[in-house]
Amino acid sequence: MEDWSHCLDVAVQIALRAGQVVQSAVKQEKQVSSKSTPTDLVTETDHQVEELIISTLREKYPTHRFIGEESSAAGVKCELTDDPTWIIDPIDGTCNFVHSFPMVAVSIGFAVRKEKISAPQLELGVIYHCFDGTLYTARKGHGAFCNGVRLQVSKEKDVSKALILTEIGAKRDPATLDIFLGNMKKLLSAPTHGVRIIGSSTLALCHIASGAAEAYYQYGLHCWDIAAAAVIIREAGGHVMDTTGGPLDLMSRRVVAAGTREIADCVVKQLQPINYGRDDTDPDDLA
Ligand code: IPD
Ligand code: CA
Ligand code: CA
Ligand code: CA
Repeated sequence: MEDWSHCLDVAVQIALRAGQVVQSAVKQEKQVSSKSTPTDLVTETDHQVEELIISTLREKYPTHRFIGEESSAAGVKCELTDDPTWIIDPIDGTCNFVHSFPMVAVSIGFAVRKEKISAPQLELGVIYHCFDGTLYTARKGHGAFCNGVRLQVSKEKDVSKALILTEIGAKRDPATLDIFLGNMKKLLSAPTHGVRIIGSSTLALCHIASGAAEAYYQYGLHCWDIAAAAVIIREAGGHVMDTTGGPLDLMSRRVVAAGTREIADCVVKQLQPINYGRDDTDPDDLA
């Protein structure tokens, strides 16, 4: 079995450099535009950071492949193959970044071997919280860490004592909002301790890894929102799965993560699905 520890070291160095770029850009005036919907924001820093991460990694690993949020938006095919593939979210929480709301992260995941697409093929994850400098890292089989301290998920099994996190994506049509609010209502009245939205999928998932919250669910996120975080949660002893309770499909745009299987099952039972399509659907197929 190949030892990918060198990739983790490289990813950490790049995430820290990328984080510095984000940190200095926060104080500058930003050029903001929108992509798929008026609330799907992007700035020049998203592009700059993605370019920095991919070009640095490509120089180190010329045979590897890359999936990045902004390259995908520009038409590069979002595809997992049998080749080692880096999955990058240059700025997770762009809307937060635009407002200087302090929940913004750089996320770098790494996957190998498409045929083992659920747990085993995600090899490592690095997430850097650009505002407070927290660094989350994990490598499959070697544990998850926050600034070098080992992470452990919450062991709570009772959903009535659970804090639940979720995110709303960029789709805000009335039908989608109704399902989104219905799901939140069911989880609030389950009852649980509460439901939170922080505006960054990757940092919310890191809070599951650290045990600060018991469960996370979302429809509408992307493979670059989950790839790194899934390794971090699993290595912290947690569960990451499809919203049906089945194995995670990185491209399916939906996820449930939890510290314990019991809490995950309770969340799964409450959810009404929202269909967002898939990350790996060729846009030409939809024409
Ligand atoms: C988004 C954020 C947001 C979540 C969206 C993501 P971005 O990522 O994580 O909280 O609701 O689904 O796409 O666009 O800021 O990288
Ligand atoms: Ca985005
Ligand atoms: Ca994101
Ligand atoms: Ca992003």
